[in-house]
Amino acid sequence: MREADSAGRASVSPLSVGSRPSSPNLRDRGRALGAKLGGLLAALALAFVLVPGQEHWSAPGSMNAGHGELACSSCHRRAPGTLRQQIQANVRYALGLRETPADFGHRAVRNRDCVSCHERPFDRHPVSRFLEPRFASARRALSPEQCVSCHREHSGARVTAPVGACVQCHDRLSVAADPLDVPHAALVRDGRWNTCLGCHDFHGNHRMQTPTRLRDAAPEAVLTRYFGGGPSPYPAELRRRADETRARGDDE
Ligand code: HEC
Ligand code: HEC
Ligand code: HEC
Ligand code: HEC
Ligand code: HEC
Repeated sequence: MREADSAGRASVSPLSVGSRPSSPNLRDRGRALGAKLGGLLAALALAFVLVPGQEHWSAPGSMNAGHGELACSSCHRRAPGTLRQQIQANVRYALGLRETPADFGHRAVRNRDCVSCHERPFDRHPVSRFLEPRFASARRALSPEQCVSCHREHSGARVTAPVGACVQCHDRLSVAADPLDVPHAALVRDGRWNTCLGCHDFHGNHRMQTPTRLRDAAPEAVLTRYFGGGPSPYPAELRRRADETRARGDDE
């Protein structure tokens, strides 16, 4: 997973992390440099693949549900600086003269890019909330602080997280005066995490009545199909539709 927002950008090579040895081992350093240069070449290749006009063949997979009509540039924004400055910055990084790599051609897709069309101030699971320290273990398991952790683009799907991802944060759930025929406490005790989305949506964007009987919950197979891009188990009416007409400045 690329940590687009929190880390600023993905590091080019795992070897670049903490590779500042006090007793320099030349072979390791050579390997680290090689890996950095390899990353540099891969990034360069991407920069050229993304040049306008070649968009139809360069996307790494089918667009996700609902995104078929979007321009590549609605998510892939230009990185700051000229290509020449970007190359110079990355060469400096590869040589150890710069702390972090620079984005090439296009910068990593960020939450902001998604939210510029999918702004939902009422979101019951806003990504920014999951930067809080108490979500550290959920962050390790799921990276819920980023949209693309659960909606990996170019995978021809709608949701790419597991149906039962709720376990990461709700394992101590207790609902006062629980209205369910099979209470939440029993669902949690029996590890029935695949039932949750059968009654609840995730962002609270669907106008819906939450069922109270387990037999009225959408079955897991229906949820899995919805995740894969199939028909929705939730009512069609949304509180907020995506905005396709957002102002698209070159950079903000
Ligand atoms: C809805 C947003 C969105 C749209 C539209 C989109 N992409 Fe992407 N794309 C992503 C995300 C998210 C990634 C994951 C890597 C990242 O964060 O940059 C990605 C990754 C890529 C990568 C691989 C880059 C890497 O570092 O792994 C390429 C190449 C790419 N997209 C090309 C395209 C092309 C070509 C189009 C237009 C046909 C397009 N994308 C449209 C969101 C989008
Ligand atoms: C240029 C605007 C735009 C951007 C940027 C954008 N989307 Fe979308 N997205 C749409 C539109 C339009 C739809 C079609 C469904 C609709 O009208 O709500 C859609 C659909 C979706 C759906 C499926 C909704 C459904 O009910 O089928 C998901 C999930 C989604 N987007 C997530 C994302 C994520 C995550 C990002 C950032 C990587 C992103 N979007 C970036 C406009 C955008
Ligand atoms: C922890 C996982 C997770 C994260 C992080 C996440 N989503 Fe979702 N998202 C889901 C799940 C699960 C669904 C399917 C249930 C539903 O439709 O509510 C969904 C559904 C959607 C939908 C379609 C239904 C709707 O609400 O309109 C859109 C659009 C969407 N997500 C956009 C986003 C955007 C934008 C972000 C980042 C701001 C984001 N998601 C972050 C899990 C996630
Ligand atoms: C990364 C952590 C995290 C994950 C994963 C997560 N939740 Fe939540 N959820 C929260 C937090 C935090 C709240 C707010 C509770 C509070 O304010 O005390 C919440 C609230 C809710 C609420 C109550 C919302 C309201 O407005 O009353 C529901 C329902 C819910 N979550 C369902 C789910 C379902 C279903 C899943 C699995 C798809 C899920 N959650 C996954 C953290 C998470
Ligand atoms: C049969 C339907 C159903 C299933 C399955 C279900 N819930 Fe609920 N849940 C409800 C109803 C009804 C409420 C009462 C509040 C409401 O109407 O949203 C509720 C309330 C909640 C709340 C809010 C608690 C509060 O104090 O405000 C959370 C969080 C929650 N559920 C999470 C989950 C999780 C996690 C799972 C999976 C283990 C789950 N639910 C399974 C129907 C269901």
